[in-house]
Amino acid sequence: MSDNMTSGEIVPFPNEMRPGGALPARVLAIANQKGGVGKTTTAINLGTALAAIGERVLIIDLDPQGNASTGLGIDQKSRQISTYDVITGEKTLREAVLATAVPHLHIAPSTMDLSGFELEVGHSRDRAYRLRTALGQLNDVAMGSGAYNYVLIDCPPSLNLLTINAMAAANAILVPLQCEFFALEGLSQLLKTVEQVKQNLNPDLTIHGIVLTMFDARNNLSGQVVADVRQFMGPKVYDTVIPRNVRVSEAPSYGKPVLVYDLKCVGSEAYLRLATEIIQREKQFKELRAS
Ligand SMILES: Nc1ncnc2c1ncn2[C@@H]1O[C@H](COP(=O)(O)OP(=O)(O)OP(=O)(O)O)[C@@H](O)[C@H]1O
Ligand SMILES: [Mg+2]
Repeated sequence: MSDNMTSGEIVPFPNEMRPGGALPARVLAIANQKGGVGKTTTAINLGTALAAIGERVLIIDLDPQGNASTGLGIDQKSRQISTYDVITGEKTLREAVLATAVPHLHIAPSTMDLSGFELEVGHSRDRAYRLRTALGQLNDVAMGSGAYNYVLIDCPPSLNLLTINAMAAANAILVPLQCEFFALEGLSQLLKTVEQVKQNLNPDLTIHGIVLTMFDARNNLSGQVVADVRQFMGPKVYDTVIPRNVRVSEAPSYGKPVLVYDLKCVGSEAYLRLATEIIQREKQFKELRAS
């Protein structure tokens, strides 16, 4: 593969040039190249649920659509400094971060500018490490009480250079899968990409887990999809299944996470359970790393 490729293709990077330094938090990339499977909904509501439990959370909006920013009530004129400025090296991540209405939940917003990222930096040698470098710098200034426990990266629906940046910057990948007929389609391509990133860019990368979304109890197919995905992916699938719930889909139009919009609805309850499960899985990962 030539070095002047500008797509999300993964080019090995010399070991000694990898950005070093510890990451500022546990960094989870929420990724699936399929559109509309619940990536952004999961970023917003898992982030809110983790923050409600007392974790300090940063959401990085790495999608030019900016849905995570909109869904958290960040209007366009507040996005003076965006993730585009961060990964092109113009601004630091700290400068882009905004507080949200949810205590302990911050966001680095995105704008449409991000769609030009690949064309603009696709030729630079460190193109896959722009986000990792920015996160490493966050570490320098975010020590102490302001430090984050979790960074959640909302990826675009593509395995492009933005998603590769997220995977190269993450400790682990969280994959939302929609409970629909073609749920597993594309999953092997995603897993192959994760494996390539692991080999060439980020040796410690793992799959954190798979979350089944938009489960519809009235639809027999939903139950069949859950069974198939559990059989195929085993314990990587979280116990928590996110139900299809109209309150979840209404909340973003009010610029609110569903936990703020309607704390008692089944969607909010599910995201709280998912947050608890993620914290438990994190403890297990920590024990494994220590042993
Ligand atoms: N549990 C749910 N119940 C009902 N609607 C949902 C649920 N989860 C997501 N949705 C709706 O499904 C649509 C797609 O969700 P979302 O935007 O989170 O997917 P995405 O994977 O981020 O999409 P994209 O690939 O375009 O970034 C949205 O309209 C969202 O409100
Ligand atoms: Mg999205």
